[in-house]
Amino acid sequence: MKQIVLTLFSFLIMSTISAQNKTLVAYFSATGTTKKVATELAAVVNADLHEIKPAQAYTNADLNWHDKKSRSSVEMADKKSRPAITDKLTNMSDYQTIYVGFPIWWYTAPTIINTFFESYDFKGKTVYLYATSGGSTIDKSVSDLKAAYPEINIKSGRLLNYAGKNELQDFVGNR
Ligand SMILES: Cc1cc2nc3c(=O)[nH]c(=O)nc-3n(C[C@H](O)[C@H](O)[C@H](O)COP(=O)(O)O)c2cc1C
Repeated sequence: MKQIVLTLFSFLIMSTISAQNKTLVAYFSATGTTKKVATELAAVVNADLHEIKPAQAYTNADLNWHDKKSRSSVEMADKKSRPAITDKLTNMSDYQTIYVGFPIWWYTAPTIINTFFESYDFKGKTVYLYATSGGSTIDKSVSDLKAAYPEINIKSGRLLNYAGKNELQDFVGNR
């Protein structure tokens, strides 16, 4: 009997520890490019995949950066804008390592990424950033987000334009 209780107890401890050690690949993607990379990254790191989903989806007109009045232009010009997120995670506490991916907008991360960082408790978690772009680097996104959230353990970031399996493995291995 004692043996059974002990076995059950250690099983409970083990599953609690592993539940809190999971990896999450989160992404926001307006036109599918970052989503594709995120899906591949989640397979490479054996992580759960989570879409950072805007409550109101972005239309093509919303994404027109030539139009100063388009939704994305207005949001990106206002550092305080926080586009609402829907389908939030209910089990963020399970994850220890979180990859956060997004398209570069106006040389930095879209403000919905700020909404994401302000929606959960990141205490004790490690965050890696990744992005896709039309050519801009991820550097400004990394420094902007680190400056905005000094209390969050944000590590390096990597631009993953056209990343194949080798580059994804390199990113995961050399973060
Ligand atoms: C509003 C807006 C602003 C953008 N600004 C930049 C930019 O500053 N630099 C850049 O290289 N690409 C920029 N892009 C291009 C996107 O970063 C690129 O197409 C990205 O891969 C799209 O990812 P998604 O399909 O996951 O939304 C911008 C795109 C949009 C819609």
